Amino acid sequence: MKVTVITVSDRAFKGIYEDLSGPAIENILKQHIDNIEISGVIVPDEEEQLLKALNNALESDFIITTGGTGLSDRDITPDVCEKYCDKALPGIAEILRAESYKETPQAMLSRGFAGIKNKTVIVNFPGSVKAVNLCTKILIPVMEHAVKMLNNEGH
Ligand code: MTE
Repeated sequence: MKVTVITVSDRAFKGIYEDLSGPAIENILKQHIDNIEISGVIVPDEEEQLLKALNNALESDFIITTGGTGLSDRDITPDVCEKYCDKALPGIAEILRAESYKETPQAMLSRGFAGIKNKTVIVNFPGSVKAVNLCTKILIPVMEHAVKMLNNEGH
């Protein structure tokens, strides 16, 4: 399985702080999924650069983004991804929010979207390490099956 992790953060992009959530996602995936190929990229909260990163990652089975799902003016990740996708996968976003809500009421403030572009599943996670630790573990159990179904090998 091929996964691209896109960190969407002005500050991580500029090096003002170290990107911790992208590597956290990569570590958890590697621990739980055999034969996984992961690449990571950091982009600022800019539509054009996020779109370029999405286009570059379309050979991946999954694209996981982290950051930019909140309410500030610069938070554009879900909006860009929703426009970009062919279909929505609302169940993923619903469950990520519902399970995260058990940890923090702030989970309601994540606007994260999940959908499909061509044969690639795109999922938005929030930006914090705590959030991605939980969200990655929630997503892992369906990843292989999703890839099979998308390639018409499921059921
Ligand atoms: N989800 C989980 N599981 N854990 C968290 O700590 N933080 C929330 C929320 N979702 C959080 C979470 C907070 S504080 C915000 S503002 C939103 O995600 C959006 O975060 P983002 O703008 O970094 O994407």
